[in-house]
Amino acid sequence: MNRFLGAVGLAALSTGAVALSGSADAASLSVSVKPFGTMPDGQAVQLYRLENSNGMEVDVITYGGAIQSIKAPDKDGRVADVALGFDNLDGYLHTDTYFGALIGRYGNRIGHAGFTLEGKAYKLPANDAANTLHGGPQGFDKHVWKAAEVPGGLELTLVSKDGDEGFPGTLNVKVVYTVTDKNELKIDYTATTDKPTVVNLTNHSYFNLAGAGEGDVLQHQVMLNADRFTPVDSGLIPTGELKPVKGTPFDFTKATAIGARIDQKDEQLNFGKGYDHNWVLNKGNGGMTKAAEVYEPNSGRVLEVLTTEPGLQFYTGNFLDGSIHGKGGKTYGRRGGFCMETQHYPDSPNKPSFPSTELKPGQTYHTTTVYRFSAR
Ligand code: BGC
Repeated sequence: MNRFLGAVGLAALSTGAVALSGSADAASLSVSVKPFGTMPDGQAVQLYRLENSNGMEVDVITYGGAIQSIKAPDKDGRVADVALGFDNLDGYLHTDTYFGALIGRYGNRIGHAGFTLEGKAYKLPANDAANTLHGGPQGFDKHVWKAAEVPGGLELTLVSKDGDEGFPGTLNVKVVYTVTDKNELKIDYTATTDKPTVVNLTNHSYFNLAGAGEGDVLQHQVMLNADRFTPVDSGLIPTGELKPVKGTPFDFTKATAIGARIDQKDEQLNFGKGYDHNWVLNKGNGGMTKAAEVYEPNSGRVLEVLTTEPGLQFYTGNFLDGSIHGKGGKTYGRRGGFCMETQHYPDSPNKPSFPSTELKPGQTYHTTTVYRFSAR
């Protein structure tokens, strides 16, 4: 079966594609690879295609480990690309939107670009006013990751040197992308360090379940499994409070259209220019739990998000402004995509009351997130 799927996957790719042998039998997954471009320093960037037997196809590039495309069927079996991104490397090199990228060492913001760990102060480069966003200006999204095919998917690895973007310790990072026959895209993150450090890894995919570039996402109905969120100050740094969502535009405990309340007069919405906040997931007994479900009424596509993480940054593409032309020349306008960034809470290194993001030598950081696609 793999041989056959491998051949199909290969045929679908343009000249230069190479089918990899030994694809995962377990998940009936075919993996193929082709060149995606060359970095200014000469490093080659590859695109890996993970394809299951149900018509789901995920393309990942080694630059930033970014998910470049996700093709998923609608209620009538019609397949569309539901992830925002670019057709070529240049697009990724010249924008700061983090489309589909792996984010590290620290997803979202660290206030005042610094933290103290075990009595020692660390200064980070600021890249979002006075704060550090998504690991700094040269975060993991700006690196070319090493790729290897593994059973069921693709393994990406990165060694972040001691002092990289101001963070202590050499961090060995491994991210495994898998596509299952249940149309699940699974992302498994592990990391180890040789000095005490902080880690918070995530993926920054922007989804539009009607199809990337097919207008805004305001009609999408969102359910978030969270009774509380972490309100922020005007720089989008959490105040430290875990605030009940009840009675606020942040209550998505029942499925609600993204656009239903997004422009209400509300200080928190005003700070985020829409939704750009961390929800405190209801974890019950912990482990892998459902974080979110999103439904797009025209296509019938559904995205469920499951994660081991305690938080979810739900960001509604408020800073997209139509100036970006993505895949197929399509324009990505304001709120043309939404992100579901599973994570520990922003600024945890400076918030002792938040779940800890510290990683010590001898410990292994391990989190898993699943994006499950279906249609109804
Ligand atoms: C942040 C936004 C930021 C965006 C960058 C999100 O995770 O919360 O504030 O603008 O990433 O694309």
